[in-house]
Amino acid sequence: MKIELVTNTTSDVSVLFLTKDEIKKSKYKTTLEKANFEAAQDSICFLYEQDVLFVGIEEKNDDSLRTATTVAIQTLKSSNAKSASFNVAKNSIKPIVEGLILGGYEFNKYKSETKKPALKRIDLECRNIKTLMSDFEEAVIVAEATCFTRDIVNTIPEDIHPETLAKLAKNLAKENALECDILDEKALKKEKCLSMLAVGRASRHESQLIHLAYKPKKKAKKVVTLVGKGLTYDSGGLSLKPATSMVTMKMDKAGACAVLGIIKAISELKLDIEVHAFVGAVENMIGGDAYKPDDVLTTRSGQTVEVRNTDAEGRLVLCDVLDYAQEKIKADYIFDFATLTGACMVALGQYTTGVMGHSNALKHAFFDAANDSGELIGTLPFNRHLKKLLKSDIADTSNVSSKPYGGAITAGLFLDKFIKDENKDKWLHFDIAGSAYTEAPWDCNVYGATGAGVRLMSSFIKNLK
Ligand code: BES
Ligand code: ZN
Ligand code: ZN
Repeated sequence: MKIELVTNTTSDVSVLFLTKDEIKKSKYKTTLEKANFEAAQDSICFLYEQDVLFVGIEEKNDDSLRTATTVAIQTLKSSNAKSASFNVAKNSIKPIVEGLILGGYEFNKYKSETKKPALKRIDLECRNIKTLMSDFEEAVIVAEATCFTRDIVNTIPEDIHPETLAKLAKNLAKENALECDILDEKALKKEKCLSMLAVGRASRHESQLIHLAYKPKKKAKKVVTLVGKGLTYDSGGLSLKPATSMVTMKMDKAGACAVLGIIKAISELKLDIEVHAFVGAVENMIGGDAYKPDDVLTTRSGQTVEVRNTDAEGRLVLCDVLDYAQEKIKADYIFDFATLTGACMVALGQYTTGVMGHSNALKHAFFDAANDSGELIGTLPFNRHLKKLLKSDIADTSNVSSKPYGGAITAGLFLDKFIKDENKDKWLHFDIAGSAYTEAPWDCNVYGATGAGVRLMSSFIKNLK
């Protein structure tokens, strides 16, 4: 499907967004009233004879337009229209492009037959192409990077495991002129990433630490380090997940995939910001060689960890990757993305990314990025009482809390133990356990991966000075 900015459209169908109040002023008023169309958000009225598709919107804001465009594109794709047009202006181009690309997204890799939609072309009709071009191109880059992330997350664990994820990252580096360094198990041993290696030990695939770097042509205004949890499958390990909780755990690599999507977007936007993406790619499996509850692991930082639950494996991977990333790159910001805890969904619901860290100013900046990007975030507060719950009687720390409440925060506090003092205010942890994957459509998300983090972080990085 081709999306183009035009000043004069010749498309089969025109899509018109209407608020309740606008019905009365519409030239289609009588027909719309006959159809009992009340312009409720996301409701549609397709006037086939007139080649007009009406979609109701509550207000003319980004959220309304993005979901209404999602409904429109899905309706158009199931119709026989070959082309359609939308009116766009400076303040509506981004949500409309997002609705088209993200709401029209399909993942058909494993379907033997897919119906090809008749729809081939979308015209975005505007007064002046020049004034909209850069907003249009930017929205397309970020939305396509989000789909890139979705595709990898949706790919099954037989196809994406640590070694193939590393290969995929290498390809991305080649295509986008990124620097690429990959540590296999031999290199990881040399680097003393023994905690990360323990998690992957029962897998038939070698764990990989992936490092990609985007360095702008001009002097970088800021340096951003991104770290992603890349559990290509999380069976829970010997603390095995129940059957129903294990389904969907191919999505436990969503943090890694987000980080790859972000560096893809930033490199294509050609921003003057240096970005480093570090991914811990590991498969958490069972077997005679598996790491065990009761083991004590020595992390790269030297701190020891008592394993009390092998399903709390993400933090055991991230602690080594965070330590490595901080030693390698002196960054202005360090952000990690991880499908870290089911508890984050209990705390915030499944749509909202949990944000944790020490700097209130930095957390605050992300509320602007969330508003701008349309992603949802909520902050979860650290406190010293929860921190004490990670105490171990046998090692420096336990990998799980001794109490059942506040699990998203205690996981964040575990990671905090591996953030060096000089980096405390530069670091935020994003728990995307709920927001990264969905089994029911919402907003511009369809079944499967959402690409959470890509729009949010692209917006933040784009506004760095
Ligand atoms: N990958 C899971 C977290 C998760 C759960 C992500 C559901 C998405 C949906 C993580 O590795 C995990 O299993 N965490 C445990 C931690 C517990 C053992 C302390 C959890 O959330 O139950
Ligand atoms: Zn787990
Ligand atoms: Zn996990």
